[in-house]
Amino acid sequence: MTPILSVRGLTKAYHGTPVLAGVDLDVSEHEVVVLIGASGSGKSTLLRCIDLLEEIDDGQILLDGRDISDPRIDADGARRAMGMVFQSFNLFPHLTALGNVALAPRVVHGTARRAAQDRGRELLARVGLADLADAYPDKLSGGQQQRVAIARALAYEPRLLLLDEITSALDPELVGEVLTLVGELAAGGATIVMATHEMAFARDVADTVCFLDGGRIVEAGTAAQVLTDPVEDRTRQFLRRFTAGR
Ligand SMILES: Nc1ncnc2c1ncn2[C@@H]1O[C@H](COP(=O)(O)OP(=O)(O)OP(=O)(O)O)[C@@H](O)[C@H]1O
Ligand SMILES: [Mg+2]
Repeated sequence: MTPILSVRGLTKAYHGTPVLAGVDLDVSEHEVVVLIGASGSGKSTLLRCIDLLEEIDDGQILLDGRDISDPRIDADGARRAMGMVFQSFNLFPHLTALGNVALAPRVVHGTARRAAQDRGRELLARVGLADLADAYPDKLSGGQQQRVAIARALAYEPRLLLLDEITSALDPELVGEVLTLVGELAAGGATIVMATHEMAFARDVADTVCFLDGGRIVEAGTAAQVLTDPVEDRTRQFLRRFTAGR
């Protein structure tokens, strides 16, 4: 079966400094891949390259077998097949939760206002926020705002969700509700690539854990293998430092 996502030999440098140094990654349908690694190891850059927010220097990114890193393709169209969520929620403050979710389909797709609103309500219900459709972001908790951002990322029924440290800006007591939602999406069959420092979540939900170091995937395997019985010294060191720092 063709993987949904296939990253091959991806390299990327900023001002001559390599940040991704040959990344290969295959993601199958319904697979949950968690990226772990120290700050600066390249997790965000990898996710941004996959979402075509960065130009890559070399390699290929195939989505459903199609080379979306080919400059001749319609990048916006390809990006619509992916939903990306960032650490900062980036909601429009002057729009309600519903407005934020309904905006993308309405403006970009030209969906009729009524249909976009119905669709927006459906998406908000999916993230457990049906009752807060008319609330403005400043009246929502961080966890609720992030769930709105996730609903917005689901707007086009993406083939792939790219989640970059989506709980790192949240107060600790709000992390759970967002991770629970991601777990539900995963259980519902979503295909997810997610950078996170939430190791317990990775252990419980990830099919595959990739440890990045210096812009490479140094080790990849099942969550149980990589998190509890890593092969590589560098992975072991990272996990040791990580647990010590908690
Ligand atoms: N726009 C940019 N211009 C220059 N350098 C950048 C840029 N974005 C990232 N970098 C550099 O690329 C490297 C990888 O950064 P990246 O943000 O991908 O790491 P990360 O693994 O996501 O780290 P963190 O855990 O802190 O989020 C870092 O050295 C960073 O300084
Ligand atoms: Mg990052």
